Amino acid sequence: MAEVAVALDVASGRDALALVERIGEAISWYKLGPVLYVREGPDLARELLARGKQVFLDLKWHDIPSTVAGAVAAAADLGVSLATVHLSGGPRMLEAAARARQAGLRIVGVGVLTSMDGPEFGTVVARAVDDVSLEQERLVRLGLEAGLDGFVCAAAEAARLREIAGRHAWLVTPGIRRAGDGASDQRRTASPLEAARAGATLLVVGRPVTGAEDPKAVAREIREEAAGG
Ligand code: C5P
Repeated sequence: MAEVAVALDVASGRDALALVERIGEAISWYKLGPVLYVREGPDLARELLARGKQVFLDLKWHDIPSTVAGAVAAAADLGVSLATVHLSGGPRMLEAAARARQAGLRIVGVGVLTSMDGPEFGTVVARAVDDVSLEQERLVRLGLEAGLDGFVCAAAEAARLREIAGRHAWLVTPGIRRAGDGASDQRRTASPLEAARAGATLLVVGRPVTGAEDPKAVAREIREEAAGG
């Protein structure tokens, strides 16, 4: 059964905690990204944990192996449940991240950013890239060899990555929209049911919940739809 994490893409820690209070029991996972984390620091993560929530720290680390290992160890000490690294950090960085995690903390890899298309990714790797999904698969294999717990991917990639990564891998899918939600700046979206059926483990939803008049009702609806997969 797929779980749902709400992305706390709001202006301040105060707004974030007010949203978490409004949503109440409907959601147990919250994603903290770099904007709010830089503003509020680890205290906001501690506040969420004190309210019994699971924290997904989405800082997408990409640095030398010892620095990433240190960040992973610090995240484990903080008590977060999930954190992200860039797969393009390479095998030694990914192995260092996998080694530094402790029970209770999963590390998932980000491959090609969904904001990049083939031509732009091609400028990074200095060769023509026609099919970004093949690059994504190549990077996922690096993550698997290094022992990561899973991957961030579009719901449309989840079924294929599930084949490659196996049944225990965590597949974390942003870009979730119900019928009738605007796509915002997401290029490829999927409904909660489509993502769950494609094998996603954790669905990440931001604006459809954070911008809703009744965020609790929307969160509950998304959870129920995801559970149907
Ligand atoms: O508001 P929305 O539902 O589009 O939010 C999706 C969240 O997932 C945002 O926090 C965004 O940064 C994050 N994300 C994404 N695509 C990725 C990785 C993360 O949209 N490939």
